[in-house]
Amino acid sequence: MSQFAIRLKELRKTFDGKEFIVDGMNLEIPKGTLTAIIGFSGTGKSVMLKHILGLFRPTSGLVEVLGQDLSKKSQDELTVFRRNFGVLFQGSALFDDMTVLENVCFPLVEHRRDLPEDKVVEIATQKLIQVGLDSKHFQKLPNQISGGMQKRTGLARALALDPEILFYDEPTTGLDPILTEMVDNLILETHKHRPGITSVMVSHDLDAAFRIADHVAMLDKGKVLLWGTPEDFYKTDLELVKRFVDKGLRRK
Ligand SMILES: Nc1ncnc2c1ncn2[C@@H]1O[C@H](COP(=O)(O)OP(=O)(O)OP(=O)(O)O)[C@@H](O)[C@H]1O
Ligand SMILES: [Mg+2]
Repeated sequence: MSQFAIRLKELRKTFDGKEFIVDGMNLEIPKGTLTAIIGFSGTGKSVMLKHILGLFRPTSGLVEVLGQDLSKKSQDELTVFRRNFGVLFQGSALFDDMTVLENVCFPLVEHRRDLPEDKVVEIATQKLIQVGLDSKHFQKLPNQISGGMQKRTGLARALALDPEILFYDEPTTGLDPILTEMVDNLILETHKHRPGITSVMVSHDLDAAFRIADHVAMLDKGKVLLWGTPEDFYKTDLELVKRFVDKGLRRK
């Protein structure tokens, strides 16, 4: 078994045959760690994430997830493989016409047809309680609960299938500082309470990245410019990293 949850080797991607959005990316994310991916806008963070999720195919290079080479998988196999992932995007992406509880039941109904309905509800309820949502909100629609509760619901849904890897893409972008801190803490708590789970967070929020991540990877022009502990980032001599970090931190 690989000690790495994710390995990227010389990953390259071009959409138009000319410009390489990902241009020789190497990254190894050890199992059980929390990694933050940072970098200027348009440097390929989301595109990289979509390769790991198997939503994009590389132009060249290796994408290995949980010890498996994704290029060897068919579309159908990738769909099944994605059950190992929980994903929380910026907007929570809840289904508006489903209740909170139904939203969390959804992946279980889709992927765990072996489970009877009462078991599905039991698991969904348990996930909602774990992320701190009060049961009085379970029968509400997403637009009837606050932004923070929507995040909790999205996270409960991401956890429904007990994923091995949790992905967050800009989980706090657009939130106010109080909500941002709540979501950051929720990510950290979720990670801590699940031994062995690997968390990968793409974030503009450097405070959170340096506070909660074991490792940080800064991307630039489709490559990993620096990978290391938050400490390594504070000590670096790389000008571009220093500038990015100095600008991005609210508290110094
Ligand atoms: N499906 C696509 N087809 C063509 N180009 C794409 C596609 N997806 C992304 N790109 C391009 O890839 C580049 C990197 O985009 P990406 O979304 O990865 O940036 P990012 O680092 O996540 O930025 P941000 O911090 O703003 O989210 C952009 O120039 C974007 O236009
Ligand atoms: Mg992005």
